[in-house]
Amino acid sequence: MPDRYAVIGNPVAHSRSPWIHAQFARATGQDIDYLRIEAPLDAFAHALDEFRAAGGRGANITLPFKEQAFRYCGELSARACEARAVNTLVLDRGAPYGDNTDGVGLLRDLSVNLGRTLVGKRVLLMGAGGAAQGVVGPLAAAGVAQLVIANRTPQRARALAARFPAAPLEACGYDALAGEAFDLVINATSAGITGSLPPLPPGLFRPGALVYDLLYGRDTAFLAFARAAGAATCDGSGMLVEQAAESFFIWRGVRPATAAVLAALRAG
Ligand code: ATR
Repeated sequence: MPDRYAVIGNPVAHSRSPWIHAQFARATGQDIDYLRIEAPLDAFAHALDEFRAAGGRGANITLPFKEQAFRYCGELSARACEARAVNTLVLDRGAPYGDNTDGVGLLRDLSVNLGRTLVGKRVLLMGAGGAAQGVVGPLAAAGVAQLVIANRTPQRARALAARFPAAPLEACGYDALAGEAFDLVINATSAGITGSLPPLPPGLFRPGALVYDLLYGRDTAFLAFARAAGAATCDGSGMLVEQAAESFFIWRGVRPATAAVLAALRAG
C-alpha cells in the first residue's frame, strides 16, 4: 500500500496540494497517496488522531489550523517555534513532529524563481495574522535593510515585531506609510479573499519594486493596484509549490524539481 499523506484544513476543497504532491511523487518515483481532509472547525486534533491511527505518515496543515497544529506537536523545528505555527507534520517518527516550510518557500520563490535578492532591500509586509507570522523570521534574517510590518490593527503588528527583538523591524498602521517607499511589498492580509484592499498611500513602490501576494490563483485588488502603479507583481503560486517541495523533502528525503510543476500550476 502506498504511504499516505494529506492536507488538512477547512475549507480544503480548493487546495492544489494533492495535485502538486502527485506531480512530485511521479517525478521522483515515490509511491504515495495524498488526500484532502476537511477537519471540523472544532475538531482538528480529533481529525488528526484519526488520520494517524489510519496510518497517515505526514500532513500539510492549512488555514485555519496552523496554530493548533503547533500545539499538537510533541517536537518542533526551530522555524516552527519561531513562527509559532506548523504547516508540515511528520507522524511516523514517534511523537508528532512539526515544521514550518512557508518562510523558506517564500524565500526560495523570491530568490530562485524570481531572481530577487533581499540583501539591503527595504521590505514591507502587510498583515500580522497567521500568514504573516510564518514569514517574518525568514524575511528578517535574509539580510534586508529594513522590514516594516503594517497592519490594520497596529497593535497586532507591534506584538508580532516584538517577537524578533534583534531584527531590523518596525511595526505600524497603514496611515504611517505615507511618504515611505519599498523594494518589495508582500501582502499577507486576507483582504483579497473579500475583494478589499488595505488603505495604501500612493508612491509606495520604488522603481523596480516587486509586489507579491501570498494568496495564489487569484488576481487580487492589491495586485491590480500595484500593476496600475507600474510595479512588477506576483501571486503566491511559487511559494505554494516551494513550501510543498520542502515538505516533500522532509517526508521522503528527496528534493523534487519545482519549475515544471509551477509552470503547469500557473497554466491552470
Ligand atoms: P491569516 O491566517 O490568513 O493571516 P488572520 O490571522 O485572520 O488570517 O489575519 C488576517 C490578516 O488580514 C490580519 O492582518 C488582518 O488585519 P487585522 O489584524 O487588523 O484584523 C488583515 N485583514 C483582513 N481583512 C483586511 C482588510 N479588509 N484590510 C486590511 N487588512 C485586512
